[in-house]
Amino acid sequence: MKIKILGGICLLAFFAMIYSCQSDAAIEYSRYYSAGAIVYQSHCQNCHGDKGQGLNGLIPPLTDTALLKSYNNKLTCQLKNGLSGKINVAGKEFEGTMPATDLSPIEMAQVITYVTNSFGNKQGLFTDDQVQTALNNCGK
Ligand code: HEC
Repeated sequence: MKIKILGGICLLAFFAMIYSCQSDAAIEYSRYYSAGAIVYQSHCQNCHGDKGQGLNGLIPPLTDTALLKSYNNKLTCQLKNGLSGKINVAGKEFEGTMPATDLSPIEMAQVITYVTNSFGNKQGLFTDDQVQTALNNCGK
């Protein structure tokens, strides 16, 4: 009897642990995401649109899941240095200039988490540690 109760308590503690781990990650994700929405509104939306739809032939959309999928590190450097020259997004050519931003690493992480989990994209959290690592490798 005692053993059963003890076992039950252990099992309960185990599930409580797993549950709290998951919800910590979920809370962190939603913090990044909602802060990122605000960064997006003030730093990206003017050009890329409120639904990430872009602007005709001038500004590429952010709805190309295939592009954004492996783009987090590049996007970090792009936010730091800007981007110009010919690019191909969703089968269309663009040749414009995206200015560099003055976002802090945490704001970059937030806005990247936002765009890579909006407009049909679903990639999960991109942390400020990951941004920092990407920034250290931009020039290389
Ligand atoms: C002043 C307008 C402007 C703003 C503000 C802006 N962008 Fe851009 N963005 C552009 C243009 C123009 C391009 C295409 C550049 C080119 O043709 O080389 C682009 C390209 C991109 C691309 C696609 C890059 C590729 O290689 O396909 C992504 C992703 C992106 N922007 C994300 C963002 C995010 C996130 C923000 C906000 C932090 C932002 N942009 C702010 C104009 C802007």
